[in-house]
Amino acid sequence: GLQNSKELFAKAVKGGYAIPAYNFNNLEQLQAIIMACVETNSPVILQVSKGARNYANQTLLRNLARGAVEYAAELGNPVPIVLHLDHGDSFELCKDCIQTGFSSVMIDGSHLSYEDNVTLTRQVVDYAHQYDVTVEGELGVLAGVEDEVASETHTYTQPEEVEDFVTRTGVDSLAIAIGTSHGAFKFKPGEDHKIRLDILSEIEKRIPGFPIVLHGSSSVPQDLVKTINEHGGKLKDAIGISEEQLRKAAQSAVCKINIDSDGRLAMTAAIRKVLDEKPEEFDPRKYLGPARDALKELYKHKNINVLGSNDKA
Ligand code: G3H
Ligand code: 13P
Ligand code: ZN
Repeated sequence: GLQNSKELFAKAVKGGYAIPAYNFNNLEQLQAIIMACVETNSPVILQVSKGARNYANQTLLRNLARGAVEYAAELGNPVPIVLHLDHGDSFELCKDCIQTGFSSVMIDGSHLSYEDNVTLTRQVVDYAHQYDVTVEGELGVLAGVEDEVASETHTYTQPEEVEDFVTRTGVDSLAIAIGTSHGAFKFKPGEDHKIRLDILSEIEKRIPGFPIVLHGSSSVPQDLVKTINEHGGKLKDAIGISEEQLRKAAQSAVCKINIDSDGRLAMTAAIRKVLDEKPEEFDPRKYLGPARDALKELYKHKNINVLGSNDKA
């Protein structure tokens, strides 16, 4: 069945690699994730956001994820699969996910005051651990995507707070803010495209071996942006985190790396290309199929060349 993240993280921290955490909202994304992880022999965290629940219905998504366990076995490799709530924003949402079979949840109290974040996170941990569900908390605020003001004032995680936070909340893993951000526009052109690996290493010194999570870790491959724009798209100045920096992070105590936007770009590029080049097609399988193939290749590449999660199942 679905499993929690505890053992996977312990092995990943020790082994110097990171577990992929890929978001899904539909069948083709899920198929691509599972095929890629089966073929690369990688454990995987399936992430469902609040937005995904609203879009696709949480009952359907949860049962798709449960089916994925069987599907992986059918493909010949029953890799470990975690079903994780991404960016839970309330105790009630986390409770509902735990009650309906998620094996892991995130409570994102990063926008709250420090003390309120501790209190809310502790409440979720106390509840989740009764059901053997693991909990991810967050300290520090990721830069906003479209919001110029938010991106000017993003708040890195303060290393001096992390030990107190993990001790008082009892979380199983901690998401940190070191310069990554959500979406496809992470830096402005001409800006320094570096994340703060120095802050990461300060954090690691305070909580040695504790599982760290990086959100906002898409690399925004420029070939995908180019394909999208060549086929009618309009993505200007889309910039991500270099794979080189993510590789370094994955070798440290970072044991979970969240990627969603790169998958969105791969799907969109493939679909635009088919619809542009074959205007006579109208069977969704004729464009969703190629999109699924492209996604699968993207995820295999991430597992092998960025996260190092291949052959760790
Ligand atoms: O953290 C954001 C993830 O990419 C999920 O995005 O809230 O649009 O589903 P979403
Ligand atoms: P990206 O937008 O960089 O893919 O980040 C996804 C994420 O952090 C999901 O929680
Ligand atoms: Zn995130």
